[in-house]
Amino acid sequence: MAKRGSTPAKRVKKSTAGTSKTSLRPKSPLLAKDTRNGAPAVSRAPAPATGKQFLSDKVGRFTESVIREMTRQAMLHNAVNLAQGFPDFSAPAEIKQAAQQAVAADVNQYAITWGAKNLRNAIARQMGVWQGLTVDPEREITVCCGSTEAMISTLLAVCNAGDEVVIFEPFYENYGPDSVLSGAKPKFVKLRPPASDGGEWTFDEKELRRAFDKHTKAIILNTPNNPTGKVFTRRELELIRDLCVEFDVLAITDEIYEHILYEGTEHIAMVTLDGMRERTVTINGMSKTYSVTGWRVGWAVAPEKITNAIRKVHDFLTVGAPAPLQEAGAMALSLPAEYYAKLAEGYRVRRDHLMPALTAAGFKCFRPRGAYYVMTDISAFGFKDDVSFAKYLVQEIGVACVPGSSFYRDPRDGARQVRFAFCKKPETLDEAGRRLARLAR
Ligand SMILES: Cc1ncc(COP(=O)(O)O)c(C=O)c1O
Repeated sequence: MAKRGSTPAKRVKKSTAGTSKTSLRPKSPLLAKDTRNGAPAVSRAPAPATGKQFLSDKVGRFTESVIREMTRQAMLHNAVNLAQGFPDFSAPAEIKQAAQQAVAADVNQYAITWGAKNLRNAIARQMGVWQGLTVDPEREITVCCGSTEAMISTLLAVCNAGDEVVIFEPFYENYGPDSVLSGAKPKFVKLRPPASDGGEWTFDEKELRRAFDKHTKAIILNTPNNPTGKVFTRRELELIRDLCVEFDVLAITDEIYEHILYEGTEHIAMVTLDGMRERTVTINGMSKTYSVTGWRVGWAVAPEKITNAIRKVHDFLTVGAPAPLQEAGAMALSLPAEYYAKLAEGYRVRRDHLMPALTAAGFKCFRPRGAYYVMTDISAFGFKDDVSFAKYLVQEIGVACVPGSSFYRDPRDGARQVRFAFCKKPETLDEAGRRLARLAR
């Protein structure tokens, strides 16, 4: 591994000198050092003559998505995109057919704003099958434009300025800007990487307790977790539940990887725990389970009063999710149990395909228990930080990853980490492996 321990700064410098393709666009969030998502920094342009600011303070407090930016970088440099979490393989034929049929049958106008009846019925039915829960599709479900919209609609519906929201970090980067937009103040609790191979990401119970107080409105919980692959255990969930009950706090759970689990790991929905039915908003969607991230269909399941508030926000944000794709969603949710078993097994194979290539190239991998990402430690490469490493990787090695700092409030916490997505065809992972092998030479 000749290059490790050599001077990476030199390598990066060499790699960026004298070529037109190399520099990131000036507006790249990768270069926006003073605006961390969710952090209180405010960047203002010089005031015009009137003194009026045309941009809101809110937009100064977060950057564009680094994950989405890395996809643009991958396209620019013709790199293998292991950055953004979207499959490069086909969605199931049956559900594509259902979408085509819905368009042909002229399901082309607005659906009911809070979701097509067929889809809400299917969601309620499957929550019964998967979680053993009785959900009222008329009063407790809101279909949104992806779980992304379900999350921001929920936060806008429940948060007042100054309310605090507890978030485990590293966190899926949307939660930072979501908090800013809803006026909530994020309070971060650390997930610590496993000390040994095969260990779990853990949190300090005392640190979690300290994050709760009378200002806490909600905790955002993502399990199975992006980016760590952690699947919260029943014991951990019960601990969180006890705090939610003690401090009268809502749990907003992002469960979009609920079917992507490895080695018999169990997904436990927070809403099923005693005392949580009335204080949980469960968010899910079609993107990951059915490999249709571009369809933009997701949902929030919540008690009636909270659902009414989410529906109001959702109606004025987007009116509704794409009507024909909601019909296809109803069909997707009726796929048999084997579909989900195959989905998880397919991702286990992909995980076990990519991880050895990463290890051989010099990464330390944190083995995920769920979702389709591998968090890695890049200390062995000797780079200044994750951003310079990610730039080198996309520009010179031809593989796009996500710099770890985009998952933390303080970029220093992610400076030794990058994330790879393995929701890709075997040949894509092979090509990435071939390119990554150059790191070890
Ligand atoms: C944890 C998490 N939540 C939400 C999303 C976005 O989901 P959707 O496509 O339903 O908006 C992603 C996408 O990567 C994610 O990783």
